[in-house]
Amino acid sequence: MGQSKKTYYITTPIYYPSAKLHIGHTYCTSVADTIARFKRLVGYDVRFLTGSDEHGQKIQRAAEAEGITPLEYTTNIVNGFKALWEKMHISNDDFIRTTDARHEKVVQELFTKAYEKGDIYKAEYEGWYCTPDETFWTEQKLGPNHTCPDCGRPVERVKEESYFFKLGKYTDQWLQFIEENPDFIQPESRRNEMIQFVKQGLEDLAVSRTSFDWGIKVPFDPKHVVYVWFDALVNYISALAPFDGDGELYKRYWPADLHLVGKEIVRFHTIIWPMMLMSLELPIPKKVFGHGWMIVDGTKMSKSLGNVIDPNPLIDTYGADSLRYYLLSEIQLGNDGNFTLPNFVTKINADLSNDLGNLLNRTIAMIQKYHDGVITKTADIDELDKEISTLAEKTVADFEAQMEAMEINKALKTVWAFIGRMNKYIDETMPWVLAKSEAESDVLRLQSVMYHLAESLRIIAVLVSPVIPVGAPKIWNQLGLAGFNEAQLDTVRTWGGIESGTTVVKGEPIYPRFEIPEMVDVVETEKDVEEVDTSAIPPLKEHITYDDFDKLDLRVAKVLTCEKVPKSKKLLKFTLDIGLEERTVVSGISQYYEPEQMIGKKVIYLANLAPKKLMGIESYGMILSGSDWEENLEVTNIESLPAGSIVK
Ligand code: MSP
Repeated sequence: MGQSKKTYYITTPIYYPSAKLHIGHTYCTSVADTIARFKRLVGYDVRFLTGSDEHGQKIQRAAEAEGITPLEYTTNIVNGFKALWEKMHISNDDFIRTTDARHEKVVQELFTKAYEKGDIYKAEYEGWYCTPDETFWTEQKLGPNHTCPDCGRPVERVKEESYFFKLGKYTDQWLQFIEENPDFIQPESRRNEMIQFVKQGLEDLAVSRTSFDWGIKVPFDPKHVVYVWFDALVNYISALAPFDGDGELYKRYWPADLHLVGKEIVRFHTIIWPMMLMSLELPIPKKVFGHGWMIVDGTKMSKSLGNVIDPNPLIDTYGADSLRYYLLSEIQLGNDGNFTLPNFVTKINADLSNDLGNLLNRTIAMIQKYHDGVITKTADIDELDKEISTLAEKTVADFEAQMEAMEINKALKTVWAFIGRMNKYIDETMPWVLAKSEAESDVLRLQSVMYHLAESLRIIAVLVSPVIPVGAPKIWNQLGLAGFNEAQLDTVRTWGGIESGTTVVKGEPIYPRFEIPEMVDVVETEKDVEEVDTSAIPPLKEHITYDDFDKLDLRVAKVLTCEKVPKSKKLLKFTLDIGLEERTVVSGISQYYEPEQMIGKKVIYLANLAPKKLMGIESYGMILSGSDWEENLEVTNIESLPAGSIVK
């Protein structure tokens, strides 16, 4: 009997069906899908789970507002989730709904088990509840004016009988677990945050509600429903049917290798979930990775803020691969990311249509033109060929190491550097010149150039497949190869996989080029869009050259002091830290800002404007601001960079 494969169990959070999914959710699921596909490529026995989190007061209220049952309400939306994931080519092996009987059964069993152990007890709860986040808060943790410290929305006062879970009991065991498993919480910064949170002391957690009934009933006290987070977290286990038959799936895949979650729910996954598992005496997952948010204008995209971007029209126009590629290549896992339509289209045009698409088109067209479509396997003829075959093998090794380290954007850079090298190889070897020669050495050289191009594309097709699963098999098919689904990373580790006689097949360009759209708003906003009278906007100025622009020394500057200039209505006097030195500057923005509003702000500053005296003060340079044709003004602001940074 052969050795059984190593398993890899990966999950996304289960999404609330309280709103349409947006590209923030699409981002999370695409990252998980890419990792799942990569692990399959490496040869793991992968299980990839996603799903929906359907209980809770919020859903019950939304369904009531529409006059339908909560299950009808969630089913409609969940069907939309499933359609979106299919359209995005998400390769999940299972989709769990918390309304599935298979899930409810496991939640009830585990709740009872913790109760029988004495870790869950009944008491009176009085405190604050954030309904949108389904989170309890104590008075001390609340934000100003009784708001949720996580999302800023108002909390509700609740007083009810409740079951409590003894979280605090597991503090020491948890701290020890974290010390022994330093990689459990990723990235590292989140780990320190969580340790601080636990060290501040944990209160027991209310794990049931009686004020509404859309939830899983506590089996021994059915006027209570299980608190949504206790219910939801169990999905990762219930989907493996631990109590069915001999629990085959559960035995095979638990503990999970990776829970991929957004940064705001790391706390639930790395504190509450492991403590529940400690109580239940079940193994703890190996890793929780907290990714960043897709943000719009500096704030998290979310339905409640009315600033979401719907992935559907983007996929319909540009294709699933394009959206996946953009999200995965632009954002470093763990950081926040921005989406704008012009950036998106510029990126996919450059990388997919131009770099990758052209390499494929040129290669296939030349093999057809010069060799009737037939590839002949040749050895490396010279140093240049050797460089290519060596670089190909190194690209595979680097790509694998970066993917293993969850540095997906770096791994893509590695592959695109190789694609760039191959485009340059065409220009260097000039096949069109070789094709005109009958000298035996040129005939051989042309064969070897075509072989190096085709073989490189074979390797590239496999490497890019976790990210662009639609285009990758098309590359393979155009090369005349078969069995893409069986192609594993092992088959591209060594150079020389394409055999002589393989015949290429011309196909449609795999990634068309798109017009760069105007800076249109793809954000769906509930608010009315203000009408702007464009005739009031000042006309555009004449073109300048880059050299003209480059004369400006624009910097990030931090405001150290700011005060009103005596006897002046307009002027404020600033001291700025510009990294290398301190500067005094006088600016006419006193009607718009109080001095104390400016202190600590980082602004964009023109450092090399000739000094000028204003009201007797020597002013150096200028703070940049925007102003409209009415009477509004806002100073520019770059918060995340140190003083002295260049702006261009
Ligand atoms: N139902 C809970 C999760 C329970 S898991 C046992 C939940 N659902 S959610 O629908 O609100 O969010 C699901 C995931 O989507 C979270 O990981 C969240 O971070 C992610 N995103 C929601 N908005 C996002 C962005 N704007 N950007 C990136 N991901 C974000 O929380």
